[in-house]
Order: sequence, then C-alpha cells, then structure tokens
Amino acid sequence: MATVNDNYDKLAAGYLFPQIAKRAKAFSQNNPGVKLLKLGIGNSTEPLAPAVIAGLKLGVDKLAKVETYTGYGDEQGDTRLRKAIAAEYAKLGATVADNEVFVSDGAKPDVGNVQSIFSPDCIVAVQDPAYPVYVDTNVIAGRGGNYDDKRGRYDRFVYMPCTEENGFFPEVPKQKVDLVYICSPNNPTGAVATKEQLAKFVDYAKKNKAVIIFDSAYSQFIKDPELPRSIYEIPGARECAIEINSFSKSAGFTGVRLGWTVVPMECVCEDAPAGKLNALWNRRQCTFFNGASNIVQEGGLAALTQRGQKECKETIDYYMENARIIREGFSSIGLKVFGGVNAPYLWVKTPKGAKSWEFFDILLSQAHVVTTPGAGFGPHGEGFIRVSAFGHRQDIIEAVESVKKNLKI
Ligand code: MLT
Repeated sequence: MATVNDNYDKLAAGYLFPQIAKRAKAFSQNNPGVKLLKLGIGNSTEPLAPAVIAGLKLGVDKLAKVETYTGYGDEQGDTRLRKAIAAEYAKLGATVADNEVFVSDGAKPDVGNVQSIFSPDCIVAVQDPAYPVYVDTNVIAGRGGNYDDKRGRYDRFVYMPCTEENGFFPEVPKQKVDLVYICSPNNPTGAVATKEQLAKFVDYAKKNKAVIIFDSAYSQFIKDPELPRSIYEIPGARECAIEINSFSKSAGFTGVRLGWTVVPMECVCEDAPAGKLNALWNRRQCTFFNGASNIVQEGGLAALTQRGQKECKETIDYYMENARIIREGFSSIGLKVFGGVNAPYLWVKTPKGAKSWEFFDILLSQAHVVTTPGAGFGPHGEGFIRVSAFGHRQDIIEAVESVKKNLKI
C-alpha cells in the first residue's frame, strides 16, 4: 500500500506566489478591463543582454554540427563555467576552487535540495521573514514539526526575528541549531548584512558545528562597496558555509534557468570531516540531476565575460532605478519604506497598523497594484508588504502614480 509523505499536509498554506496570482486573477475577473500593475513576484522583465544572446546562439549552433555536438555534460557543470564562477569569487578576495562550484538549473532548486544532505533531525534556524523555500522544503523533509496556527510558526524551527529595530538582520540564535539560512541581500526585506554581522554568524556556526546556507542570489544588486557580496569574504566562512547564487535576477535567467552552489572542501559539520559535504552534494547532484542545459551554460559563460557583465549591469541599474522611483514615490505619501538601495526589493510598513493581507487588498482594489504581503514570509513579516522593482519602467511609473493618486491612507 503506497502512502504519501504526510509532511506535505503540515505545510501551512499554498506556495505564496501562486496564491497571490490567484487573488490577482480573481480581481481581474471581477473587474474586466482594469489594468493590473504587478509589483509582486520578483520576475525579470527586460530582454537578455546582447552578449548573452550571442552565447545562447553559440550554444545552439554547436548542437547543429557533429564536431561540436554534446550530449550529457558533467553533472557538476561545464568546467569552463565552473572556472569562470570561481574567478568571480577571486575578484572579491574570496577563495573558491572550481571543483567546489556545482552549476545547476537555478538557485531555487539548490536552496530546496541542499537540505537533503543533512540529517532529518537537524534543527533549522531561519530569518523571519524569509524566502518561503527554506521553510517549506524543511517542513517537507520533516524538520518543521507541527504548525502552530495561533503563532504562525512551526514548533521545531528557530525563528530569527528581522525587525525595524535590528535593521532587519537578526542576532545569532541563543540556542544551538544545526542549519542556519541567511539571505543577503535579503528577500523579502531588501536589507544587506554587513561583514561584522556575517562574522558573528560564522563564529557561531564554527562554535556549534552548524552549517550556514547562504543565499546570495541578489549579490549583484549591491552598490555599496563596503558590503559583502559573498559569505566567503568573511574569514573562516569556508569551514562552515555553503553559498547558493543564481543568474536569474543578475542576468535575466528567470526563465532560462541557471545557478550554482559552492560547497568548500573545508566545510564541515558534526559528523562530516573536510570534503564530505562536498562529496555528498556531488553524489546528490549526480544521482538526481543530469547537468544544466549546455545551451544555457554557454549563455552563462557569456554573461560572465567582461562585455556580458557590463551589459548585465546596465539591466541591474535599470531595475535599481525602478527601486528608486518606488522608494521616493511611496515615501512622498508618507509610507515608511526600507530596502531598495542595495537590493531589488522594498519592504514597506503598512499604514495605521493594517495587516499585510489587508493592505495588499487595499493596494489592489484602490490602486490596482499587486504586491506581496509580508506575512507570507513569516510571522515577523506581518505589518509589511514587499514591493518588487522588477518591471518595465512605464509600468513602475504608472504603479507609483496610481498609488500616490488613489491610495487613501
Ligand atoms: C520572489 O519573488 O521572491 C522570487 O522571484 C521568487 C524566486 O526567485 O523564486
């Protein structure tokens, strides 16, 4: 008799972004002809850089000739791309070897899958609010315990509050935990951890033989040269941190799909000596994954060339200008706005203590603007909404003007 993984029944709600899409669709059906302005999901909208298009075309052309055709590639990724990614870390003054880089079809699957190399007994700490994949995948793996409806929490997770008071970056946990998820620049708050703040977590992880899962998918959006783009800029991080990054937002690969995970050889935990976590992730990828698309990897290589980086940066600057327009527009009507300076997300406090979903509905019905309710990211997201700066400039301007004109607060 087959039975299902009943941890799925413990998931508190449907996955956040489809839930929002459902509400937006219902609004459109009830209000035909009304244009919705979407600042909800962080989905890239601008065309790929010409250098990247040339790389992708090269990948296609290679498949057209017997001399250059390739079938399955290395599960870990094309060696040229692994080397190019490792070289990017060297530019930050961080050491990463190419055999520590595992290319994948995106950061989200890696963020979800990485927990599978750890024991189901591990205690997990998450920033609160957090990108829902950290929580949901650990619930599915059985690490969440039960969901407490009243408190909006799972009873086996350690929640690290990210509040206005602490600048949306938490203190290290008071108790011993095993896996610590950190996202910087942060989705959803847009806050970026300083080197000092990350150093505290590295110290904590080394003392407790914990492993940090560091999600740096938005690192290319950091403008401030003092802020770390990789956890490996912090001394000692190679011994305790796995880092996951993506081409999705930095090069517009949300639909193309390409990312990577770094598992340093020195990275250890309680029962894993040096090299073991790297070997386990390698085993996991070889078993479950046949390598990223060869065409897409050519595109990724092109994105990392000097020309590719210059062109991709122009698109990042475009989104960051969107962020500035949103920040200034929302602030001008008295809304309290955080983030959006070194990250493409803005974290907006709801006026008059409104609940996140209430304010989401108000923005939708009064201004026809779709956002993401902060409560969807965890209990400390209550009282905020997240606004995404990904969008066409004209839509961003229209959305901001509509909020300024129509929102009654
Ligand atoms: C978001 O809106 O948080 C992201 O687009 C979701 C993702 O990257 O998976």
